[in-house]
Amino acid sequence: MESTIKRVAVFTSGGDAPGMNAALRAVVRTAAYRQIEVIGIEGGYKGMIEGLFRKLEVRDVGNIIQRGGTFLRTARSMEFMTAEGRNKAFKALKKAKIQACIALGGNGTFTGAEIFHKEHKIPMIGVPCTIDNDLYGTDKTIGFDTAVNTAVEAVDKIRDTAESHSRLFFIEVMGRHSGSIALHTAIASGAGSVILPEKETSIDELVSSLKKIAKRKKLVSLVIVAEGNPLGSADEIAKKVKSQLDVFDVRVTVIGHLQRGGSPSGFDRVLASRLGSSAIAALLEGHEDIMVGINNQQIKYTPLTYAIKNQKDLDLRLIKLAKMLAI
Ligand code: F6P
Repeated sequence: MESTIKRVAVFTSGGDAPGMNAALRAVVRTAAYRQIEVIGIEGGYKGMIEGLFRKLEVRDVGNIIQRGGTFLRTARSMEFMTAEGRNKAFKALKKAKIQACIALGGNGTFTGAEIFHKEHKIPMIGVPCTIDNDLYGTDKTIGFDTAVNTAVEAVDKIRDTAESHSRLFFIEVMGRHSGSIALHTAIASGAGSVILPEKETSIDELVSSLKKIAKRKKLVSLVIVAEGNPLGSADEIAKKVKSQLDVFDVRVTVIGHLQRGGSPSGFDRVLASRLGSSAIAALLEGHEDIMVGINNQQIKYTPLTYAIKNQKDLDLRLIKLAKMLAI
């Protein structure tokens, strides 16, 4: 049966991620191919409430596949968390004759999308965009690969100066509640240790492993610290370690928002193109509240409710590998 969907909206919400623009381009161009009109909402849910809508044509998404950030801009809206705010957003969508929405973002974005679909029956399709790679239902989120590449490039540079001075560096990477960026960065940069939110560890354990490293006379010691780990920030951990171990000259680097910007990697551009296009396909197949993801190279649909409530586990084999290769 032919779909009755002829006008959809697309928006980006929450933290930006490299590859969001590539995903927007794929949504707009796939929709054009399927003769569906696309309305871009500026500034996420906030823009939805305020009716900041504009038609997106095929040429409007030219020359953006290589750009970081999101040309539609993004925001975190407190008002959309209230039923009143969502009512306003619904009215604005109805007035603009929008039949469905495609939401590019992470957990917070999809939490909003799920409740909005339940309350107002507007189909909401999620496209996973977050550097954190913390969404259940997809092997990778858009932006993760670029963020890891950025972090690895930074750690490589720190290694040069760390080695020259024989220093111990604590390097903090992003990931709110997820150690995915930290673990991949640690393996790819050959770091000595990694501190993750998902794995219990103590300052004593860390100190004893650093003592072993000192005995082995390694030229350089790099500890990757995931933001959100229970031991504290890289700065706090460094201070505690210093008070128990004086053999190292210690320095701290927080890579921070550098990881959120920059031109998306080839991997992220391809992933974004596939998932953005699949979001339109999912709508036309009649789906109403799912996230499109990738699993073993195949497109996979996951109900929004599972994507937000289920925990994505870190691959334990990678934790073992990081440890084994750091001898
Ligand atoms: O987008 C995810 C993320 O980058 C997390 O890794 C980080 O904790 C958070 O966003 C920081 O968000 P902001 O600085 O935009 O509030």
